[in-house]
Amino acid sequence: MTLPVRTFDAIVVGAGGSGLRAALELSRAGLRVAVLTKVFPTRSHTVAAQGGVAAPLANSGEDNWHWHMYDTVKGSDYLGDQDAIEYMCRRAVEVVVELEHMGMPFDRLENGKIYQRPFGGHTQDYGSAKMAMRACAAADRTGHAMLHTLYQQNVHANTQFFVEWMALDLIRDADGDVLGVTALEMETGEAVVFHAKATLLATGGAGRIFAASTNAFINTGDGLGMAARAGIPLQDMEFWQFHPTGVHGAGVLITEGVRGEGGYLLNKNGERFMERYAPNAKDLASRDVVSRAMTTEIKEGRGCGPDADHVMLKLDHLGAEVINQRLPGIREIAIKFANADPIRESIPVVPTVHYQMGGVPANYLGEVVAPAQGDPEAVVRGLYAAGECSCVSVHGANRLGTNSLLDLLVFGKSSGEQMVKAIRESPVAHKPLPKDAADRSQARLARLDAARSGERVAELSSDLRRTMQAHCGVFRFPELLSEGVEKMKALAARAERSFIDDKSKVFNTARIEALELDNLVETAMSTAVSAEARKESRGAQSRSDFAERDDANWLKHSLWYKAGNRLDYKPVHLKPLSVDSFEPKVRTY
Ligand code: FUM
Repeated sequence: MTLPVRTFDAIVVGAGGSGLRAALELSRAGLRVAVLTKVFPTRSHTVAAQGGVAAPLANSGEDNWHWHMYDTVKGSDYLGDQDAIEYMCRRAVEVVVELEHMGMPFDRLENGKIYQRPFGGHTQDYGSAKMAMRACAAADRTGHAMLHTLYQQNVHANTQFFVEWMALDLIRDADGDVLGVTALEMETGEAVVFHAKATLLATGGAGRIFAASTNAFINTGDGLGMAARAGIPLQDMEFWQFHPTGVHGAGVLITEGVRGEGGYLLNKNGERFMERYAPNAKDLASRDVVSRAMTTEIKEGRGCGPDADHVMLKLDHLGAEVINQRLPGIREIAIKFANADPIRESIPVVPTVHYQMGGVPANYLGEVVAPAQGDPEAVVRGLYAAGECSCVSVHGANRLGTNSLLDLLVFGKSSGEQMVKAIRESPVAHKPLPKDAADRSQARLARLDAARSGERVAELSSDLRRTMQAHCGVFRFPELLSEGVEKMKALAARAERSFIDDKSKVFNTARIEALELDNLVETAMSTAVSAEARKESRGAQSRSDFAERDDANWLKHSLWYKAGNRLDYKPVHLKPLSVDSFEPKVRTY
């Protein structure tokens, strides 16, 4: 191995909400932690989260963690692991109050308590028609406020940031233990080995495998690709959430908080169509339900505009004061991207890819787990995952809005706690690096540097995005799914011949995009293969040929392996930690 080596107690890959929350735990414990991030920390994609973070504070109406847990299990279409869901809902108040005490600028009620608004699928009293006020909000910029708060706390705690560094591959030794990562410094183009006792993947989502996405350009599934190449399976990758309200044509997110504040959707006849699909929750039904309803309206010819290809989100009736105070960012986005001032006009919206429910399998302590020696969930020593790149699985087949910021806080904190514990208990300083620690990364870089011809990265990426958009959409069809798998296989073969003209090293963004493409390919392939194989409809996966949920055969998690492009399955944790299970039943809103 010829690369320089830097040694830390812990490495955190990614500086979004979960990475920063974990890093804080590690730094405050006095450990040496390196956070590697492709962008400046406060530009991580958590900054784009808008509507709120779920916690049953009961500031504006009765609420408790049992109701929150019920809603989350039901929202997951019963694929969520109930032990992990209980763990998350029970720690929600703690992590949000902690954030408040760090200085997070939440909106306030008259009495000084944190402002909370309703959000889709969050109810009172185990799914009654009364919505819970559970989303703690900083206007419509909650993620922005959270990220800045966590970053400042990390600066205070002396966390060491490696900004504009891209992690390339995990380092595993002969025992399968993870001993760190290889990473590329964008400024110099040089690769380095980061050697650590514990490594956390907190790389966020991978929504950029789709053509129309609310996700930032950096969301290329880097943690997923690293895990897959290191022999770790990816779990439940068929489940992708389409957020009901992306700006038509632009994809930019319009928060569900708009509907929480009283906005609603209209078709071309001016009909509030959600009343037909979800008579109780209406526009605040779970996201999979609303996205399917919108797509059905459009498919059946009731879409708006010259191409009848979107619906309208009406909020002018909320009045200028509410819009300016609670939804200022939305007003700005609507004016900029839809040329519509929501104080007077409705916003054209369409379901847009927003969130991956699947990811790197992890337990609620953040430890990565994979089948080994007859144990379906053996801990991969030294490796942790938290946030959107992980699959804990608290969101199952469909996530409720505002549970993602909560997931970041709870599992960022729990993985940080677990890493501190493991590092302190570790009998050895650092396990020695294997001789081949950097071989995979060096081979990837050498191939790119040597290739004089081949397939253009931009073309490959856009073919991949078009394929996923056309073949793995809101509604899924058997022929399209099988064709999607075949197209992805062809694309993966083409991607092995990817090529860039510019061979320079200093800030060569073409080189970075070529490396990101490898991660997009793993993510998209796992999605297509897992979706084609799951012969049922559940949560975000809705198949025309298997229209019903099939608990007898499919109440199980998918595991996709890169080696052999094969699938395996493992049971769902139906037993919570301390309360009775919520038995699967028909999901209505
Ligand atoms: O609609 C939103 O504000 C998004 C929230 C979320 O995805 O949790």
